[in-house]
Amino acid sequence: MSDLNLEDIKQLHISYLFQNYGREEVCFDHGQGEFLFDIGNCRYLDFVAGIAVNALGHNHPAVVEAVTRQAPRLIHTSNLYYIKEQAELGEAIASIAPWPLAVSLFVNSGAEANEGALKLACKGTGRARFLAAKNSFHGRTSVALSATGQPKYQSGFEPLLSRAFDFIEYGNVEQLKSSVTSETAALILEPIQGEGGIIVPSQEFMRTARDITTDKGAMLIVDEVQTGLCRTGRWFGFEHFGIVPDIITLAKALGGGYPIGAIVSSMEISKTFTPGSHGTTFGGNPLGCAVAKAVLSTMKKEKLAERANLKGEEWMAKLRSITRESAMVKEVRGRGLMIGVEMEGERANEFKAYAFQRKQLVNVAGGRTVRLVPPLIMGDQSMTALNESMKSFLTRPHPETKTL
Ligand SMILES: Cc1ncc(COP(=O)(O)O)c(C=O)c1O
Repeated sequence: MSDLNLEDIKQLHISYLFQNYGREEVCFDHGQGEFLFDIGNCRYLDFVAGIAVNALGHNHPAVVEAVTRQAPRLIHTSNLYYIKEQAELGEAIASIAPWPLAVSLFVNSGAEANEGALKLACKGTGRARFLAAKNSFHGRTSVALSATGQPKYQSGFEPLLSRAFDFIEYGNVEQLKSSVTSETAALILEPIQGEGGIIVPSQEFMRTARDITTDKGAMLIVDEVQTGLCRTGRWFGFEHFGIVPDIITLAKALGGGYPIGAIVSSMEISKTFTPGSHGTTFGGNPLGCAVAKAVLSTMKKEKLAERANLKGEEWMAKLRSITRESAMVKEVRGRGLMIGVEMEGERANEFKAYAFQRKQLVNVAGGRTVRLVPPLIMGDQSMTALNESMKSFLTRPHPETKTL
């Protein structure tokens, strides 16, 4: 139990922290599996998983063991020196990624991975025009934000953002074909738009993205920050489309909660960056890499891609049958354990508040979609608990449906 109560902690926040986040009325103290416990020791079911970060759940023994083994030995040296754990993590990523994605550069976040990937494509092609999708999200640093096709994130920062980006409708094959040109350095896409509201593109769109970039000598960057590492029922989201990108970016699940990201490409593309072209002080430090290595080997051992695929299909089928009759729900969609329930008007936000009262954490993506990205180890009982909440939310009297 904490010596500070929630009000004390909120006051400290107000006094000493930037107020750039809208936060829920809760502060967590510890976690176990798919459960979080607040400072009053009240238990919550976690369908957010740190926004698709805690893929192994909270306090997974493999993550804890890696931290406690590595931290006393060595936390940070520098990329001025060889780093054993970094090399081993690079090898582990090469073992799960399809050829020729075999070479990694480690950074600290998703935005930083995308920033580096876009620089890599610029230098590698000698071109400076980029294409991205409307409704996308690629991060908050300047180039990553330039690639983010949502005015709400760019507003107020425009003079800083690059005019090198054009945007196409996500899913519009004809627009895609006509927008990639011989001046395009790269097309950057999410294989499922996460922040945009769990939007799954067609096979044709993603395959065209691969074909047209190859034809025009541009690079295809697939942002796997949210979709990557078993979340969608495969190691990587792009695998659903039978394509292999030139560059992929990873972060979120990679460190099981420890901040680490990666740019992954072929050996040939990686050679674009020579000593001094790109770098970071903290990226690829021994502690982060040791933890990420443990995360990947646990995902392999526990067959979490297969599990996410199976559980996701079952869960989506249940959610569809619960919501089918309701005018409040427009669609249930997703892949694996990356599921969106799109609702009418403000219903998604209302459901979030309703679930919170029932000690279940969900969040809303794209304004109207309840996003479910739980730990990949989540048990059936927990999913059933969310289904029950959805059922009772949809059948309780709502102000507009009350008879007069
Ligand atoms: C697809 C995608 N790319 C990039 C990012 C940015 O990652 P980070 O917040 O680690 O910078 C996110 C974060 O939500 C994301 O979903």
